[in-house]
Amino acid sequence: METNSGMHIFLIGMPGSGKSTIGKKLADKLGYPFLDLDEVIVEREGQTIAAVFERHGQEYFRAAEAAALRSLESIATGLVVATGGGTPCFLDNMVYMQKQGLTVYLQVSVNKLLERFTEEELSIRPLLQNKSDVELLTYLTETLAHREQFYKKAQEVIETGSIPLETTVAALEKRILPYLSQQKRRSVS
Ligand code: S3P
Repeated sequence: METNSGMHIFLIGMPGSGKSTIGKKLADKLGYPFLDLDEVIVEREGQTIAAVFERHGQEYFRAAEAAALRSLESIATGLVVATGGGTPCFLDNMVYMQKQGLTVYLQVSVNKLLERFTEEELSIRPLLQNKSDVELLTYLTETLAHREQFYKKAQEVIETGSIPLETTVAALEKRILPYLSQQKRRSVS
């Protein structure tokens, strides 16, 4: 287990790319606390993500998301953060995360994403709700094509769709450890 370096690790990628599942396991391995940015928004807003979208619209949600992200700056302990699928693509959040910590893109193809979504998972995600199979395929394809210009700026990109979860987590840990020890050296000197 690592001593905490104080640097946040931001996992980015499409809804269904495994940011929360992989994030929790990675956090356990590193001995870092895990945080889901959507849960921070829910707590700060006092309502579900679906309710925020429904009552206030996407623009309000993006502002709340950017504010929730920036609120993590005051936490001195390094965290593993599962961001929302759209987080890196609005309000300079990607540049902000790159300055604040380490960004890791969990890359998954649209076909794999489609295989993973259950009805329940679709129902809690306002942008994926009430779509036919064709509409969902079109939405995910177009959204991924647009978002990759942001996602691919991540310091680390890892393809996670076709390998077992534990292998992904182990590979991620290996890639992340050098950043954490570098950060520790920086804070000591
Ligand atoms: C969103 C993804 C969601 C959540 C919100 C918007 C998006 O998070 O932040 O519904 O823009 O793709 P997940 O990626 O955890 O589903």
